[in-house]
Amino acid sequence: MKVALLGLGTVGRGVYRLLTANAYSIAQKVGAAVEIARILVRDPGKDRGVAVEPSLLTTSYGDILEDPEISIVVEVMGGIRPALDYVMAALERGKSVVTANKDLIAAHGRELLQEAMARNVDLLFEGSVAGGIPIIRPLKHCLAANRIREIMGIINGTTNYILTKMTFEGTDFLEALREAQARGYAEADPSADVEGLDAARKLAILASIAFNTRVALDSVFVEGISRITARDIAYAGELNYVIKLLGIAKDTPEGVEVRVHPTMIPKNHPLASVNDVYNAVYVRGDAVGEVMFYGRGAGEMPTASAVTGDIMEAARRVLHGAPALVGCTCFAEKPVKPVGEIESKYYVRLLVADRPGVLASIAYAFGDKEVSLASVIQKHSDGERAEIVMVTHRVRERNMQEALQLVERLSSVYQVGSCIRVEGD
Ligand code: NAP
Ligand code: HSE
Repeated sequence: MKVALLGLGTVGRGVYRLLTANAYSIAQKVGAAVEIARILVRDPGKDRGVAVEPSLLTTSYGDILEDPEISIVVEVMGGIRPALDYVMAALERGKSVVTANKDLIAAHGRELLQEAMARNVDLLFEGSVAGGIPIIRPLKHCLAANRIREIMGIINGTTNYILTKMTFEGTDFLEALREAQARGYAEADPSADVEGLDAARKLAILASIAFNTRVALDSVFVEGISRITARDIAYAGELNYVIKLLGIAKDTPEGVEVRVHPTMIPKNHPLASVNDVYNAVYVRGDAVGEVMFYGRGAGEMPTASAVTGDIMEAARRVLHGAPALVGCTCFAEKPVKPVGEIESKYYVRLLVADRPGVLASIAYAFGDKEVSLASVIQKHSDGERAEIVMVTHRVRERNMQEALQLVERLSSVYQVGSCIRVEGD
């Protein structure tokens, strides 16, 4: 069974290593040896830390596309172009495709799946969400009988690694990001991780499959972790919370709710102890109840595990001439709920003038927008300026944002330092 790799970076190298190291057991499970016949790279001269026969490397995609013996194309290059053209061309030629590329699936999953279905070939993308954790196939197969009500998860390894380092070791944000990059967790452009876009892409994919409706990337509300400070992490700890970048998707009667943002969750919440590069996805279905998937969400070998599992699945079907796996499952058209309509509790940190009447004016502004305060704590004061931390009761997002605008306009408020949603209690 001949396969071609497009890319020999972190994930491609892992797939090469895994197919080589476990060649015998993989061949037994598939029913044929799985051989890497070609590898597309940009720079064949680059040292990749893995011993690859130089004649396998090519810079010409035509060498792969035109080879009728290559049945499976494994796209681990990343980005939209030229990955989209390459994947589409492979499907059109009747080759199955395995990809770990969430940018591609989130933006073009529908058309690619339609092409795969039309050609009766597989388009598999388990590695695109949560690295080594099996989540796509469980949603499409094992949990398919359920109506999925909710998905909540830590689905970006880089930001979870950064937040863990900042929380437990006091590591500076940029240093923690550099470590995550050195470990191969981060995207080529790490701002996609830090600003929440990578998690949003994964959430769009998960919500589309779980709720059987196409959730476009631009309908996901996104806020990253770049504004989270060591102070917020410390205050969260004092309040018995931890801060995590969560992806939250709910199927509600008013529409689908999809959002990615830093979230304070209680220390005893199951997601609170998911640290380092680990990811976890909590799923609630009407029949199964609650299930949780946990494992390494990024990195060479965990992602290679998911990608290689897909290669083996596709290989078995090519060998046996079996029909392709289930393709597009988006048969419904559900509206997306505007973010202003969601409800949450909020943590707010303000820098204010330390003088009588200030708290009352802030409480009045919140009250004007029906935001009810659960607790108010004064943290620091230098006699002139004080830092206060507040936690609200559950309130609609629109009311909260309007209240913050009123608060910001008060002459006694110097700065709204941060506003972080609180979930899970
Ligand atoms: P990477 O380390 O940057 O590797 C990308 C590889 O693709 C490199 O070998 C590069 O070749 C090759 N490439 C890129 N553009 C090319 C082009 N136009 N023509 C030919 N070759 C090209 O990336 P990665 O971390 O392995 O990620 C690959 C994909 O997996 C991405 O979609 C990513 O989102 C996804 N993913 C990554 C992880 C992770 O933990 N890293 C986890 C899950 C999913 P050169 O080496 O010659 O430049
Ligand atoms: N950059 C991604 C992450 C890779 O950190 O989770 C896995 O998709």
